[in-house]
Order: sequence, then structure tokens, then C-alpha cells
Amino acid sequence: MTVVYHEQDSDPRFLVGKKVAVIGYGNMGQPLALNLRDSGVEVLVGTRADGQDQTRQKALQDGFEAYSISDAVKATHIALMTIPDEVMPTVYLEHVAPYLQRNDALVFVSAYNVAFGYIEAPPFVDVGLIAPRTLGDYARKRYLTGKGFYSFVSVGQDASGNCWDIVLALAGALGSLKAGAIEINFEREAELDLFIEQAILPAFQHIMVTAATMLIEQGYPPEAVLADLYLSGEFVDYLERVGEEGLMNAMLDTAPHTQYGLLSRIDRFNELKLERLMEVTLQQIRDGSFAREWAKEYEDGYPRMKRLTKLRQRLEIWELEKQTIELLRRLDSL
Ligand SMILES: NC(=O)c1ccc[n+]([C@@H]2O[C@H](COP(=O)([O-])OP(=O)(O)OC[C@H]3O[C@@H](n4cnc5c(N)ncnc54)[C@H](OP(=O)(O)O)[C@@H]3O)[C@@H](O)[C@H]2O)c1
Repeated sequence: MTVVYHEQDSDPRFLVGKKVAVIGYGNMGQPLALNLRDSGVEVLVGTRADGQDQTRQKALQDGFEAYSISDAVKATHIALMTIPDEVMPTVYLEHVAPYLQRNDALVFVSAYNVAFGYIEAPPFVDVGLIAPRTLGDYARKRYLTGKGFYSFVSVGQDASGNCWDIVLALAGALGSLKAGAIEINFEREAELDLFIEQAILPAFQHIMVTAATMLIEQGYPPEAVLADLYLSGEFVDYLERVGEEGLMNAMLDTAPHTQYGLLSRIDRFNELKLERLMEVTLQQIRDGSFAREWAKEYEDGYPRMKRLTKLRQRLEIWELEKQTIELLRRLDSL
């Protein structure tokens, strides 16, 4: 049975006297550092000190002490790793691993590098995982509204005997336990995360672009099409209801003709061999071939990603999307 932790499962006293170094101060690092500080945790920020550092100023402006990554690790007991997964192994080897001390905790916000074997911590440190199931700015917004955000939590290595206590105290201070923290192992977290990114997000974008292109070709006004598909927020509202009530109840809450339309047409999508496509995607994630492909792509300077981004950016739909967003924003501000 899967365990879900809530606030009563965490004891903030396990963080007393323990400083946290947030390594990196980007999309995820900034909101998580702010959440920790607002919960009373002593936080400092570690950023690169090689002159390319663009975020140290941001951390200083937010009132944090900012150090080089190695100095931040030396000065603290817990390192929260919030730099991009592909750069993390090198940064870890050069600036983190040499400065770890007995019973320090290394906490990841994505299991990627541990799961695929790119980072192996020494046996004398704790290794934990708190992987938010939301985007960085939403982790902050949901902390501030008191709603909290879901996360996956795990302990990969319990050197101190207190790693779970540290992980849960941190998850509580980050604001995750107000919603819930789901226990899962590192491999499953990494695989699920990649699967959503590679099977659901592309399918969503493909369906939206195909539908928009077809409807516009059929003479529907582009602004109306894009607003109805996703820019008006109606679809987001529907998904929010799905998140609260589940797919079935959200469907039963819609108008009868909506339900009939869904029920009578859903089997048409069986034709798409979706299941096979998803199995292949999952297989490439689980056997590590995607992780190897991505490591090579990073080493080579992202050539394929740059090419694919350019190709995708050429679609005419994005210009229509931009115009529709401007139009809707103008209406919003009236
Ligand atoms: N973004 C999300 O919503 C989200 C959601 C769930 C989990 N995560 C996880 O959060 C972690 C961080 O992702 P992110 O999206 O927050 O990344 P990000 O915004 O791209 O991270 C940027 C930060 O990493 C630093 N950085 C980049 N390259 C570096 C290097 N070579 N050496 C030292 N620092 C470097 C940047 O500093 P500079 O200014 O010096 O470049 C900046 O502080 C990842 O493990 C990711 O899987 C992210």
C-alpha cells in the first residue's frame, strides 16, 4: 500500500541547528528556498562562482547569503540540489562530493541522476528525495495560499538513521505536506516523470495543434479556435476539476450531451495504437536509453534539441497563438 505523508507525520525539530544549502537558484531553487525561509529554516544559496553566474544577484536581492557551491556545502548540513539534471553530475563531482561530511544529507528534487546511476553518494551521507509534482512558481504560490503541493518522497540511503525524519521535516517546511507527499523509490519517480513528459505532453501538444490547424482550415476564426481549445482557461478549469474529483466524476458533472459525445466517441481513439506507443516510450526510459541519449545531447551542446525547437517554432499556429493571447489579455484588462 502506498504511503502518503501529511503534516502530522513531520517533526520540524529535526531541522533545528541544521542549515540548508539550496544549490542553484532557478525555476525550482528560488521558490523552494523562499518557502524554507518562510517556514523558519536557515537557508543559504550556492551558485557557481566562475563568472557565468546569473542568479547569485537574484539570491542576494531576495536577501539570502550566497556562496560558491563548495562553500555552501561546507557551511551546511543539508544540500538541496536544484540545478538542471544534465549539469548536475559534473557539478556534484567537482563542487559537492569533496565537501560532504559524515551524516550530511543530500536531497534531490528529481531522482533522475541517482536513478540512472550518474550520481552515487558516499556511504556516510543521507540521500533523500522530495520531488514536487508541480512547477516551481506554483510551489511558491501554493505555499503562500496555504494549499501546499504534492510531491514524491524517498530515502535512498539512511546513513544517519534519521534520513526519513529530515526528508519529512524538509517536505513540511517546503509546504508539500499540506497537500501530501507520496512515498516512492527513486527509479519509479524518475521513470514516471519522464513518461509524463514524453508520452502525455507531446500527445497533448500534437492533439491541440492538429485540431487547431484542421479547424482553421475549415474556416473557423483562429482566435475563437485557440480560445476554445486552451487559451480561455475553460480546459484548465476542467482539468482542475479532474484533479479534485477524478476523471469519471468530472465527466459526470458535465452536460448530458457532453457526456454522450465523450462516451460515444472515445473508442475511436483505440485505433491509434496508443498503448504500443506508450510501451515503447516507457521501455526507452526504463532501459536508460533516453538518459544516455540526453547525456550525449548535453555533451554535444544540444544540437538535436536546437534543430527540433527551430522546426517546431516554424509552425504558423504560434503567430496566431500570440495574437490570440494579446487579444484575450486586452479584453481581460478592459
Ligand atoms: N522547473 C520545474 O518546474 C521543476 C519541477 C520539478 C522538478 N524540477 C527539478 O528541479 C531541478 C532544477 O530544475 P530547474 O528547472 O529549476 O532548473 P533551472 O531553472 O534551469 O536551474 C537554473 C539554476 O541552475 C544553475 N546552474 C545551471 N548550470 C549550472 C552549472 N553548470 N553550475 C552551477 N550552477 C548551474 C543556474 O545558475 P546560473 O545562473 O549560474 O546559470 C541557476 O541557478 C532539476 O532536478 C529538475 O528536474 C524542476
